[in-house]
Amino acid sequence: MEAEEEYRRRERVALVAIVVLASVAVASLLVALSYYCYIRNKVSRLAKNRASEPRFILNPLFGSKGNFQERVDLETKTDRPNPQVTTTSEKGLQVFTFKQLYSATSGFSKSNVVGHGGFGSVYRGVLSDGRKVAIKLMDQAGKQGEEEFKVEVEMLSRLRSPYLLALLGYCSDSNHKVLVYEFMANGGLQEHLYPVSGSNSLSIRLDWETRLRIALEAAKGLEYLHEHVNPPVIHRDFKSSNILLDRNFHAKVSDFGLAKLGSDKAGGHVSTRVLGTQGYVAPEYALTGHLTTKSDVYSYGVVLLELLTGRVPVDMKRPPGEGVLVSWALPRLTDREQVVQIMDPALEGQYSMKEVIQVAAIAAMCVQPEADYRPLMADVVQSLVPLVKTHRLSSKVGNCPSFNATKSPTTQDLGRSSVRN
Ligand SMILES: Nc1ncnc2c1ncn2[C@@H]1O[C@H](COP(=O)(O)OP(=O)(O)O)[C@@H](O)[C@H]1O
Ligand SMILES: [Mg+2]
Repeated sequence: MEAEEEYRRRERVALVAIVVLASVAVASLLVALSYYCYIRNKVSRLAKNRASEPRFILNPLFGSKGNFQERVDLETKTDRPNPQVTTTSEKGLQVFTFKQLYSATSGFSKSNVVGHGGFGSVYRGVLSDGRKVAIKLMDQAGKQGEEEFKVEVEMLSRLRSPYLLALLGYCSDSNHKVLVYEFMANGGLQEHLYPVSGSNSLSIRLDWETRLRIALEAAKGLEYLHEHVNPPVIHRDFKSSNILLDRNFHAKVSDFGLAKLGSDKAGGHVSTRVLGTQGYVAPEYALTGHLTTKSDVYSYGVVLLELLTGRVPVDMKRPPGEGVLVSWALPRLTDREQVVQIMDPALEGQYSMKEVIQVAAIAAMCVQPEADYRPLMADVVQSLVPLVKTHRLSSKVGNCPSFNATKSPTTQDLGRSSVRN
């Protein structure tokens, strides 16, 4: 009897143990299953995000204190334009129909032409919402033009700086490639430094103070491309006609059709076909095709020389030895007596010697043949800031001792008298 009782007790204990073990097993199975579902969900969400994730990291200038990084994808294809209505591409650019741009420029009329370049003609235009724009119409079909169009759209839809010309939108159908930019009322810098045949030259010379500020703003544009974007962007066609001036003569860098992503390795380069504009191309790039941000620094130095001397980079009609601006100016830049002789006569001595020597020294460093010894654009910006600041302060107190009595047009005078309508 007792044995039977003992047997039953053991049986009950075994049953309880089996039930407990079975419930633990079921509970573990459930936990494992729900963990599996959770992980699967997370992985698929990550994969989805990665598909729209960037291979190119920008560090925008606007409010970019700290290390906020905007992520963008350089390899996304350009959107197909909608032929019926104006749409906005996923990159935030407006997609226009050819008809809309045709009517914005009164049928691309000659009277609206503001300039011509390698890509085609540039027209002044007014959009249906009243915005004034510059419309660049590709006039030669071909691989190079199409490539420049694509690079321009892809680069400019991602770069954001007050020192770069804003691309507002584009039209891309089977017959037309058109780019729509903010309108820069005073056109290209070169028009104000020397008359250029074929352009609507405004022929008003820039004063020293305005030249210094343009030099600083253009330097900030390149500094952004080289040092605030990762990997860096090399402009490859930096020149005075690609520095555009707004109605108050503030400068913005334009034309990214030839731009290239640089090497992200310190001291690295990318190898490319040599493209650019004669007189601005760095010697090592012309010789080897090795492109670095220092190639842009060289081109920037050439623009500084244009600002100082008022001369075009190459003019073989000049007396022997003076045809190539860099070769003529470089030996004179570091000599106090000679540097005055190369200054643009249109400046009529408005500058102080101290400033000229400083700007000439920056130009000399930028155009030196050894690329490694050229400064970074951040160094150039730092050197120019105090010069521009000094001018702002001196004009505030109405005292500008370095200026001559002969008054050349000030920024405001120019703004009123020469702004394009
Ligand atoms: N956004 C703009 N606003 C006003 N004028 C412009 C604009 N873009 C270009 N231009 C004018 O058109 C000219 C030709 O420009 P572009 O086609 O870029 O030629 P380039 O090859 O000389 O840079 C410039 O020098 C400038 O006078
Ligand atoms: Mg241009």
